[in-house]
Parts: sequence; C-alpha cells; structure tokens
Amino acid sequence: RQKVIFDTDPGVDDTMALLLLRYTPGIDLIGITTAAGNGRIETTTRNALYLAERFRIEAPVAMGQGTSLDGITSEPPVSIHGKNALGDIAIPAIRHKVDGRPAHELMIDLIRAHPHEITLIATGHMTNLGLALRKAPEIASLVKNVVLMGGAFGYNGARGNITPVAEANFHGDPRAADEVCGASWPLTIVGLDVTTRTIMTDAYFADLRDRGGAAGRFLWDVTRVYMDFHKSLGLPGIYVNDASAAAFVIDPALFRTVSGAVRVVRGGISDGESAMKPDGRKFPPGDWDHRPSPAVCVDVDADGVRALFSRTIL
Ligand code: BDR
Ligand code: CA
Repeated sequence: RQKVIFDTDPGVDDTMALLLLRYTPGIDLIGITTAAGNGRIETTTRNALYLAERFRIEAPVAMGQGTSLDGITSEPPVSIHGKNALGDIAIPAIRHKVDGRPAHELMIDLIRAHPHEITLIATGHMTNLGLALRKAPEIASLVKNVVLMGGAFGYNGARGNITPVAEANFHGDPRAADEVCGASWPLTIVGLDVTTRTIMTDAYFADLRDRGGAAGRFLWDVTRVYMDFHKSLGLPGIYVNDASAAAFVIDPALFRTVSGAVRVVRGGISDGESAMKPDGRKFPPGDWDHRPSPAVCVDVDADGVRALFSRTIL
C-alpha cells in the first residue's frame, strides 16, 4: 500500500480529500500534519483530530506552525469554510490527542523511517513543508513523491481565488511555497487550473448522502456552507480543490501535466502569485533559471475524478 502523509488545513475540501484517502484500500495514511489556512492552526488541528476520531483513522496527528515562515498569521476565510472551518457543523468534544512533535518533525521522522516509500500530500499553507526542508534538506531525496494543491498557472483561465492573482494556499505562505516548488524532490502541483475544472453539484452530494452511509451523510452536511459560497459566485456546484490532489495520487492518469520551473511571488500586490516557465520555452536569463522542473497539472478528466470520488465513498 502507498504510504501517505497528509498535510492539511481542514477545511471542507480537505475533509473530502481525507475521506477519499481514508477509503482508498491502496492508501496507507501514516501521518496527518496540520497547517494554517481555512482556520487558525488550533482550529484546523482540532478538526483533524475530530475527523481522525470520527472516521477511525489510526495515524498520528501533529500540529503545524500557525504563522507563515515570515511570521504572518492569516485571517481565515470564514465565508467559504464556516467559522469552525468545517462548514459550521456541530463538533463534539474529542478524546483524540495530538502527537507531541511539531508537524515538520513528524514529517521528517516518518520520511527518514520509510525512505523512498512516502507520498507527501499538502493542501494548506506550505509552511510545514518549508520548515521540514530547511531542517532536514535530505528528505528531498528520501521522499517518494510530493503532491501539492496550490497555485494557478494560467491554464484554463486560472488566476487567483484569494486575490485576483493568488491562490489561497500559496498566498498564505509565499516564501514556503517558493522554497517547496524549488526543492529537488519529485513534485506535482495540482493548482486551480485543474481543480476549478471539476465541479460537484448538490445532486452529486445528495446521491452520496442517500447511498454513501455515514461518510456520505457527513459529506452532505459539511459541504453546505462551501456550496452556498460557490453558488454565490454563480457556479452550479463546488470546485474540487484538495480532493483533486488526493485523486492525482490515486490515479495520475486522470491528469495531464506540463513540467517547468515554478516561482511564487513574495510581497506587493502580487503576493502569492505563481507562474511556471514550461521546459523548452526560451526566455532571457532570469529568476526561473537553475530551478528543478516540477510537473504542473494543466488538464483533468473531471468525470473521472467525480467517478473515483463517488465509487470510493459509496
Ligand atoms: C485551497 O485553499 C483552501 O481554502 C482550500 O482548502 C484549498 O486547499 C484552494 O485555494
Ligand atoms: Ca486546504
């Protein structure tokens, strides 16, 4: 089974990704690390513990750093994910306890303990990955695969969602995002270019609710606020952001990628903006040179992602 560490800021679509991983037989979730983003770090960590407890996920849950590498605390997007970052569903008291280690330490420990076996999926601010790379750069050559949900690269018209030019996960810690995209590890980036191509409607979630048991009913409840937000944008359903990163790990054939050097802007009105220089495109020497070439997802089989998700939950 594929060993996975999931770095996440649950988060409605993070919950979808977590359940997709949880119910995929070929995935062995060995660690959950929390990032800031959809809520403050205390909130996303509480939510991760709750989800692990409710869906009987055995993996340790370790709390990440609440501020970006530059020490900034972001304001959570309460109108998108709700005040509790889980669509304002009622959350009971939790018995599950957090792992004693900071998130990046758990990541490093697990990657060292299972060299070349771990896929690292990140769907929140990239701070923990940045800290892990700074503290133990050798993990770049010890990890099997890294898959991020973040950024927007201009394919299919994708630009920003938190500002006109920046995607939220990269915007929350642009320095970490730039370091993570520039590290020499086997990296795939699943950005808004593809995640906004896959939409799930109320009818889709109603089917999960009616036929998908406890997980299906939970997904209906947890997506209501997120659905309202997307409807307020005039969309027929929700964008499938984080679950697309999980889907890539499960079935990469659903995606088409282009490789090239990626940079993330820090500061100014373009803070958090991302761009790629596709391999083979010639430009005068500049800031995209001498960087590794991650794979950036540029197209997706949206029906395939929806089918994968529903057959996994049903
Ligand atoms: C990303 O930002 C968060 O709000 C979502 O959970 C997703 O990871 C989309 O830009
Ligand atoms: Ca997320």
